[in-house]
Amino acid sequence: MISIENVSKTFAPRRRNMMPTVAVQQLSMTIQDGEFVCIVGPSGCGKTTLLHMVAGFEQTTTGTIALDGIEIKKPDAERAVVFQQHGLFPWLTVYQNVAFGLRLRNRGQSSYDGLVRKYLSIMGLEGFENYAPYHLSGGMQQRVAIARALITQPKVLLMDEPFGALDAQTRNGMQRFLLELWEEFRPTVLFITHDVEEAVLLGDRVFVMTARPGKLAKEFSIPFPRPRAWELSLTPEFLSLKKDVLDVLRPEVEQVSKELV
Ligand SMILES: Nc1ncnc2c1ncn2[C@@H]1O[C@H](COP(=O)(O)OP(=O)(O)OP(=O)(O)O)[C@@H](O)[C@H]1O
Ligand SMILES: [Mg+2]
Repeated sequence: MISIENVSKTFAPRRRNMMPTVAVQQLSMTIQDGEFVCIVGPSGCGKTTLLHMVAGFEQTTTGTIALDGIEIKKPDAERAVVFQQHGLFPWLTVYQNVAFGLRLRNRGQSSYDGLVRKYLSIMGLEGFENYAPYHLSGGMQQRVAIARALITQPKVLLMDEPFGALDAQTRNGMQRFLLELWEEFRPTVLFITHDVEEAVLLGDRVFVMTARPGKLAKEFSIPFPRPRAWELSLTPEFLSLKKDVLDVLRPEVEQVSKELV
């Protein structure tokens, strides 16, 4: 279980005559073991900052974040991260990228080869084992990144707009791949997205954050049974819930656009 308690994060000013930036303010949430939680919120509201604190890349200014009762202070292999793009090692092949975390733990290739091939197959990457990452499309690169993150069976998977740079069709396929892998061993997922439809399709719960400084605007429980298929997003129940989430998010996004004018 991840517990986020009264967490705030203030960044020191970049120049002397500037104000500090309060990125996250008094945020509390609890994420259960094996739960898939999505976070939506306007640009700059502190979503990435929150994810970086859960990953252990950044420290909280006040408040605590704990995993199973132990405070998170630094990065750890039990919390895997997938970024929007550019997360692969360009000097390694697709196979070597996926096998990376296992190579650190195991003795020889024979001990993990079967698992690597299984993940490559689930992600539709068979035949591309020996490619360099930069010879793959963006969608394929993200599949490699997700396979690499999940193959070590981390307790927690942290994803920061992992499909944000992909076109709509590729994105639908990726959502399917992700759900399929997640069903395998149900890690706890914290998934950040700009796309409300994606959040409602994937999540057990969706948190909407306010404009900066990011606080919790509202939390939605998503009641649809699993396994979920993309066609769910065409049903009236889905569309009505999506509208409810958008109604909370819209004023927050509008506030950010007003500040930019
Ligand atoms: N290292 C840093 N130093 C100073 N300010 C920072 C730093 N990282 C983030 N910020 C500021 O904190 C605020 C929140 O940034 P963050 O990247 O968490 O937002 P976000 O919700 O992820 O936005 P987006 O949706 O655009 O990705 C922004 O105003 C940003 O400029
Ligand atoms: Mg961000």
